[in-house]
Amino acid sequence: MRRKRPSAPAAHVPPEAVFLVGFMGAGKTSVGRALGQRLNWIFEDLDDRIERREGRTVAEIFRDSGEAGFRRAEHSALRQVLDELSGGVARIVALGGGAFVQQRNAALLKAAGVPAVFLDAPVEELWQRCSRQAGAAGIERPLLGSRDQFRGLYLARRQSYIRASLKIETAGHTVEAIAAEIAEKLGLKKVGMRSEKGESE
Ligand code: S3P
Repeated sequence: MRRKRPSAPAAHVPPEAVFLVGFMGAGKTSVGRALGQRLNWIFEDLDDRIERREGRTVAEIFRDSGEAGFRRAEHSALRQVLDELSGGVARIVALGGGAFVQQRNAALLKAAGVPAVFLDAPVEELWQRCSRQAGAAGIERPLLGSRDQFRGLYLARRQSYIRASLKIETAGHTVEAIAAEIAEKLGLKKVGMRSEKGESE
């Protein structure tokens, strides 16, 4: 019987997709966009995909179908994104604040072997950012609640976020600096110019 040759040690292969997780106001969308531009990777916000698929805003889904309905839509949109990864187009995906807290979503990311990056900041700063966004940009967050509810939800969720592959402190750092830190820590490489179909050249 021929002996099986020991396989060569696996070379480090940088990930082809990165998922940004963390609480409301952590900057997942702005950091994701900056990281996408820096690497020439596609950026997408899972909440935007949910809204397109449902034909309703996140706030409308919460209002008409409750949080349970929103979580179902979120899970199914995440599955769809992961199914599309095999297309070979590198992408950054920002998840809504509750997505990674759902065990079945975290399990999907783990099974896909893609890194989740936890963007964190002191909860008071997160609250200030969300309050400002609600006032200035009219961003509607169904789970914003009162300052105390916000803090309680953050504390309850934090134990899930820290299971992410990488944690980045965002307080006092610019969006550009945070994007650079993620790229450096995960060894992410810039791709060539992308054609309109999303293929890199
Ligand atoms: C949610 C956060 C929101 C959005 C939805 C639920 C949450 O996204 O997905 O309102 O459960 O924390 P952001 O984290 O982008 O605000």
